[in-house]
Amino acid sequence: MTAPTTTQTGDAPDPTGPLSQIDYSQRIPNNVDLNNDRRLQRALESWQPKFLEWWKELGPAIPTQDVYLRTAISVGRDGWAHFDRVPMEEYRWGIFLAERDPERRVAFGKHKGELAWQTVPGEYRAELQRLIVVQGDTEPASVEQQRVLGATAPSLYDLRNLFQVNVEEGRHLWAMVYLLHAYFGREGREEAEQLLERNSGDLDAPRILGAFNEQTTDWLQFFMFTYFTDRDGKYQLGTLKESAFDPLARTCEFMLKEEAHHMFVGTTGVQRTVERTAELMKEHGTDDVFPYGGIPLTVIQKYLNFQFAVSMDLFGSEQSTNAGNYYTSGLKGRWGETRRKDDHTLLEQTREMNLVEDGRIVQKTVPLLKALNLDLRDEYVADCENGVRRWNQALEDAGLEQRLTLPHEGFFRKVGVYAGQHVSQTGEVLDAADWQAKEADWLPTPEDRADVAALMVAEYDEGAFAGWIAAPPQGINEMPVEYDYVRF
Ligand SMILES: [Fe+2]
Ligand SMILES: [Fe+2]
Repeated sequence: MTAPTTTQTGDAPDPTGPLSQIDYSQRIPNNVDLNNDRRLQRALESWQPKFLEWWKELGPAIPTQDVYLRTAISVGRDGWAHFDRVPMEEYRWGIFLAERDPERRVAFGKHKGELAWQTVPGEYRAELQRLIVVQGDTEPASVEQQRVLGATAPSLYDLRNLFQVNVEEGRHLWAMVYLLHAYFGREGREEAEQLLERNSGDLDAPRILGAFNEQTTDWLQFFMFTYFTDRDGKYQLGTLKESAFDPLARTCEFMLKEEAHHMFVGTTGVQRTVERTAELMKEHGTDDVFPYGGIPLTVIQKYLNFQFAVSMDLFGSEQSTNAGNYYTSGLKGRWGETRRKDDHTLLEQTREMNLVEDGRIVQKTVPLLKALNLDLRDEYVADCENGVRRWNQALEDAGLEQRLTLPHEGFFRKVGVYAGQHVSQTGEVLDAADWQAKEADWLPTPEDRADVAALMVAEYDEGAFAGWIAAPPQGINEMPVEYDYVRF
């Protein structure tokens, strides 16, 4: 059955039949019964060639024959993905939503307890569309940022992981474009076009958020990006997964499943870099392992500092009326909303937050509802700590004293209460001159980046790894580490 569509609130078709299986017989693989809504299907089919054109122009630059990739085949709990060699331009990007729970209810805000919405309420249309566009904009941006990395991959295994992340970010764009086409009428279709017209780092039409206009210059930065910036994505998706607007919630739920691999690439990529560095430090009895083909821990720390700070900015201002309104209206929940033990309306609660006053960091008490960006950011920081602990375990196992740390939340920030301040890596508020004197100790210098770049030489022999990174303990999908994951 197809619900009537209007350009104002165009509904998607009601899902019918078993949802977990994805229909690959169609031009656009999907589990939303797309062929029951000809109009939506046609609109998406006319967007498809533009997407492919964009992929050709701004997707991975290095030509390949095929890549050992996973493709989603169902959205159910078990066996959701299938692995095979695929020519990348023939990857089946599609529309996959997590199963619908017809009983699902809004878990928070003023609509708490109502049945989740299957259509967009007119009063929230603009806000919902904006949330989807901002999320959607980040997905192709990271593909653009990582476009040239293939030329310097440290192994076929890593190259394959890069491409896996890239095709899935492409699919996440599809996920958001589907929502725009299906639920937001003509304006939504226009926004979907814009998602391909803004480009990372483009002076005239840049991506919406700052961190997505920085170029990913080398593989250490790529690993830091997938660790810190994809993790921001995970937390944003986590809030949208709670949305009262059910199609958005279900879309994000499935995206989170794919996103887990991106976190894995980041965590293990940095870990393997640290392991190799530790090995070289012991072998040569020095911290400066650049001459021996490794990346010094001090430089790894600087890359970490940079990527953490720009990713913290993605959470927006600590205090935000918008964030409170999104919550109250049910558009965007908190991380783990349903697991939290409070009233889920937050009208009375307060919390502490830091800010800078007369050159000192002080605390003040603010309404929780206005500090939900901070609430999410705190969850994120706690999660970030886990990886750092893991990397430090590798240093401890190697018998080294050095440790990596997350910088202070105020370090090198451009958004929120710390913007315009000069906060050191460990959290002292400095004046501009003191900051400048220390900046090169805390952030990668052009020289650091050049030294790292000099180590980035492609290693495309099966089972071989560039000298700056350790091999992983196992391959992908139980395949051996020595495997031609990418063929040229
Ligand atoms: Fe994504
Ligand atoms: Fe991602």
